Amino acid sequence: MRLHRRCVFVVLSLISSLCACGRGTDSANDEAAWSTHVPDVTQRATQTPVPPPPMGWSSWNSLGEGVNHDVIKAETAGLAALNARIASGHRYEYVNIDEGWWLSGQRDASGNFIVDAAQWPGGMQAIARYIHGKGLKAGIYIDAGPRGCGKRADGTHFVGSDPAHYDHDFLQFAQWGFDFVKVDFCGGAARGYDPEKTYRSIAQAISRAYSQTGHRLTFSVCDWGTIPTDKSFPDYNEGPWTWGAGVGTMWRTTRDITPDFGSVIYNLAGNYHPEGQHTGYYNDPDMMVAGMRMSAVHDQAHISLWAISGAPLILGNDLAKPLPADTARLLTNEEVLAIDQDALGLQGLLVAQSGRLQVWAKLLAGTGQRAIVLFNNSAKAAPMTVTWDSLGLVSSSQAMVRDVWARKDLGRFATSYTAHDVPAGGVTMLTISGTDSAPATWQPGSLDGGAVFARCPACTSGKKVTGLGTVNFSGMASGARGGFIEVGYVNDSTRTVFARLIMNGQRPTMLAFPPTRSNASMGAIAVYVPFRAGPNALALSNVDASTPAPDIGYVATISGPVPLSQTISIARHGEN
Ligand code: GLA
Repeated sequence: MRLHRRCVFVVLSLISSLCACGRGTDSANDEAAWSTHVPDVTQRATQTPVPPPPMGWSSWNSLGEGVNHDVIKAETAGLAALNARIASGHRYEYVNIDEGWWLSGQRDASGNFIVDAAQWPGGMQAIARYIHGKGLKAGIYIDAGPRGCGKRADGTHFVGSDPAHYDHDFLQFAQWGFDFVKVDFCGGAARGYDPEKTYRSIAQAISRAYSQTGHRLTFSVCDWGTIPTDKSFPDYNEGPWTWGAGVGTMWRTTRDITPDFGSVIYNLAGNYHPEGQHTGYYNDPDMMVAGMRMSAVHDQAHISLWAISGAPLILGNDLAKPLPADTARLLTNEEVLAIDQDALGLQGLLVAQSGRLQVWAKLLAGTGQRAIVLFNNSAKAAPMTVTWDSLGLVSSSQAMVRDVWARKDLGRFATSYTAHDVPAGGVTMLTISGTDSAPATWQPGSLDGGAVFARCPACTSGKKVTGLGTVNFSGMASGARGGFIEVGYVNDSTRTVFARLIMNGQRPTMLAFPPTRSNASMGAIAVYVPFRAGPNALALSNVDASTPAPDIGYVATISGPVPLSQTISIARHGEN
């Protein structure tokens, strides 16, 4: 098997060298140097950390619409106390107020929200200030359409926003000092709005609010993975994972979670869209229900499966009450949190399944690093095995295995590791540090739209593409194992820049490229782009003439977990 994979990489390198035929503005000699260059695949850029999935707490699961200044203060104190148990690394950040904050549903003559002064003494800005005072960030909630989801005691619906109020409302949230906004879709659906168009226009309102206030709202899209059936919609037959990157930071993929294990598993499966999650944009299987009603074994499985998915970790349990010791321990394991928050921001893949036993694996930053969840969803304890081959690691090489819940190194193993007793309904969670198969570099086959080749001492090829128009990486073969690529780039500005990635002519996805700080050093981001067997065509293009794009140094295949199949989705439409 290893020999076979090496052959594929050699073929890739050869094809990429042969089809490099740039038509930039450099001299003929430089053209020749580019096109005959045999890539040095050992010269790869350092991975640039992307914004991690948001971590925090939201009021909905425990409090429903019963939110007010005092209960949010108490929950804020609870979250700060939970954070104090985390010795190092990533901590919970957001305190999010869900539906129920705007009871009146009334606006004044200028369109401003009329907020109940007894519920929110000092207004919404006072609670945002309080949360900030505890070193945390504040989140708020609204519907995309004029009708909210929940109903008041008298049977009337809560109220949301609407296109005529988007600019006003998101500016108001930013002015109040909020840092996060979740935008629901009950009113949007009731009015027949197109999800993609609606959320894009809200993203623009949020970005205008940022220009006016300097205050950025993290945008959480909540249309429960709606797949429109209206053929006139741009997102006809497509869920938010196809258009969410570059619109929101995260997007719900399924119906509302409830505190039972069946619901947890249903949302896990419906959230499986690994090609949509990259460069700081996240599939969201919903807020967590750990510490609510399930057993400690199920809670541990739930947390492990959210972490291996690289999902937002937004807790939903009541933090104002004393936490059982088990819950506190499960929510504060630094190694588990680090897997969720890994710098590559990728989603874990299902790499093996036998009946109700599943092996999940996530590509982590660094060389040869993987996280694993052995998930036994059967009624009896069982032995479970993960093979190095399924992880894209060299099978014959020894790899270090660590149990992250037990916080214990288990030793070095070749080929595979077997956990002998994975509990019924539970998990064993591991990190594995092994040997990656060698990468293969793809170089641009053709340039379009004003892009040029420029010198780049730090780049694999000695050149980079600047002024990105469209760069095609065509005629590339693939062994169809996995499908992770790494894009080496330079962004010497202080802001994130963007490009679209088009794989095999499919709908583009927006990639974000954080600053690399210096023109002399390259950064790299990783993306999952499931290869099809045989040749694959990949293109990178600028978003438009006015959106800054990165300079591109190379695209390389990188080895990673090999998915069992492209989809395991059982949950599709939002059912609300
Ligand atoms: C929808 C959302 C939930 C919650 C409720 C509030 O159902 O999906 O997460 O915000 O609305 O009514």
